[in-house]
Amino acid sequence: MLTDPIGADLIRSAPDLRALSNYAVGVDNIDVGAATARGIPVGHTPGVLTGSTADLAVALMLAAGRRLTEGERLVRAGEWPPWEPDVLVGRDLHGATVGIIGAGRIGRATAQRLEGFGCEVIFAGRDRASLDRVLAESDFVSLHCPLTDETRGLIGEAELRAMRETACLVNTARGPIVDSSALERALREGWIAGAALDVTDPEPLPGDHPLLAVPNLTVIPHLGSATHRTREAMADLAVDNLLAALAGERMPHCVNPEVYDGPIPSRG
Ligand code: DGY
Repeated sequence: MLTDPIGADLIRSAPDLRALSNYAVGVDNIDVGAATARGIPVGHTPGVLTGSTADLAVALMLAAGRRLTEGERLVRAGEWPPWEPDVLVGRDLHGATVGIIGAGRIGRATAQRLEGFGCEVIFAGRDRASLDRVLAESDFVSLHCPLTDETRGLIGEAELRAMRETACLVNTARGPIVDSSALERALREGWIAGAALDVTDPEPLPGDHPLLAVPNLTVIPHLGSATHRTREAMADLAVDNLLAALAGERMPHCVNPEVYDGPIPSRG
């Protein structure tokens, strides 16, 4: 599971280990370098969760922009707000400029959905100029990059301050891409209008975490791929990867195919 850290020590201490098959597309929980060094293939589940995660990213844009969970919290607390012109007024997604950070499968699928909302979509790749443009010009900024050494802490104080005061941040990628304490200040002090997170740092977020005390935050527990169809498809790929590796064949979805460049080490 993506919640199981598979570090170099664990890999080194498992002499009979032959394959790692992650039940996730992201592999930031696995030290892929250490696995590769031992010739161990690492499998993942690309493609099958793209649509579900992109759907959820759009749902979270709507939740943050339209302040859905703020309204819901009031209703459940018995504090139904009065209908007045300026109560719980939010931001439209239709016609908005949406900045997508990470133009991979999920980022592109999210952009495709936003066409239906008449959004202008701009992408940030790995260059700083495109990131700066996305931060400065977007009404919604949505994160879709993998967690790597390069993207850890990518959205910190400077980046949040560079966003529009009216903008919302959405994260369906990985929690540590965003500096949680900077985000908490950004929301509390109004550097940005709102945020919606499917992933957090730490994850799980403890019930007394300061982020949970800010009203303009929607947070859900890593549900990007959580549909019946998608979870079944992920299970199929994870099993296919594992069975192939155990049969001495190439994994169909392997993040370190270089392990196949040389002879597959004998497991005696
Ligand atoms: C993944 O597969 O990496 C997703 O985060 C699971 O929801």
